[in-house]
Amino acid sequence: MRILLTGASGLLGGNFAVVAARAGHEVIGTVGGWSGPALSGLAQQIRLELRDGDALAAAVRAARPAAIVNCAAVSDPGQSEREPEVAAALNVGMPRQLAMLARELGARLVHVSTEQVFDGTRAPYGVGDPVAPLNGYARLKVESERVVLAAAPELAAVVRAPLLMGNSPGGRRSVHERLLLDWSEGRVARLFTDEIRQVALADNLAAVLVELCARRELCGVFHWAGAEPVSRHWLGLAIAARFGIPAEGRIVAAQLLGSPLEATRPADLRLELRPLTELLATKSEVLGAQLARLEVPESLRAAVATMRAVA
Ligand SMILES: NC(=O)c1ccc[n+]([C@@H]2O[C@H](COP(=O)([O-])OP(=O)(O)OC[C@H]3O[C@@H](n4cnc5c(N)ncnc54)[C@H](OP(=O)(O)O)[C@@H]3O)[C@@H](O)[C@H]2O)c1
Repeated sequence: MRILLTGASGLLGGNFAVVAARAGHEVIGTVGGWSGPALSGLAQQIRLELRDGDALAAAVRAARPAAIVNCAAVSDPGQSEREPEVAAALNVGMPRQLAMLARELGARLVHVSTEQVFDGTRAPYGVGDPVAPLNGYARLKVESERVVLAAAPELAAVVRAPLLMGNSPGGRRSVHERLLLDWSEGRVARLFTDEIRQVALADNLAAVLVELCARRELCGVFHWAGAEPVSRHWLGLAIAARFGIPAEGRIVAAQLLGSPLEATRPADLRLELRPLTELLATKSEVLGAQLARLEVPESLRAAVATMRAVA
């Protein structure tokens, strides 16, 4: 099928393009500021400012997609606080417009939200549990779910994603890529032992989104995540071990509880994955399987080799 993908240069979108193309789909992908090489998996790559509603509508109508997959967003909560108007336009206005275009074209819509719609005090969270966002980014994602499902209730699936790892097109967007960059530049990572996440690999979530494109009967809100909850601290240690880098002097254990971030950062975001786990062929993965597929970004290979050598 022909799929219009927004955010093809991002961590999730980049993985979606590859997984969907491998499954035989024709993917037309949009990028924003991406200046790297042609992206893998795309039949067509379109540069598009997604806040420009006229340009977005023209691109979607020209593509005439059977499915629209929205992987574009201001995905960084910090940027969301610094640039609230940009974040609102990207994270709410743009998905609302995609939903209206999906309805106009009769296209399937798959939209990505976040586990951060919950406040982290009552995990594990089921799809029907009340949302309680703690920060501006999460509030916008809650609103995005509402507007998408209001505009295209019989076409839209909204998937709440957990903290994502994976190999991103630019090598700077995934948790492990950010940690490797920090360590290569001598920064120490302060990681919380009481911040629990059910991390998933972007290519695994991408496989879920590809399946959902064809499963038009599955509408509403769904959860996807990894099979194992871990603390951020534990995850950092596992990433260091995966690449043979000593954690000592690079990772410091900290506590979210009692820290200034406690008010805006949910502590425990374990998710209940049913019913999606019972409806799809894709399986949720344990941490070891995810870590094995992580790669060192090309720009950091020399630095990582040095960190290993002096171990
Ligand atoms: N990463 C996580 O841990 C995580 C966790 C839960 C949920 N999510 C959600 O999952 C989805 C994908 O996240 P991600 O981590 O893959 O995001 P990402 O790596 O930050 O990628 C964001 C994408 O959006 C595009 N974009 C941003 N602003 C744009 C604009 N004004 N015009 C055009 N394109 C624009 C970027 O294009 P350029 O780079 O080319 O500008 C990029 O392709 C988002 O909805 C996010 O909220 C992510």
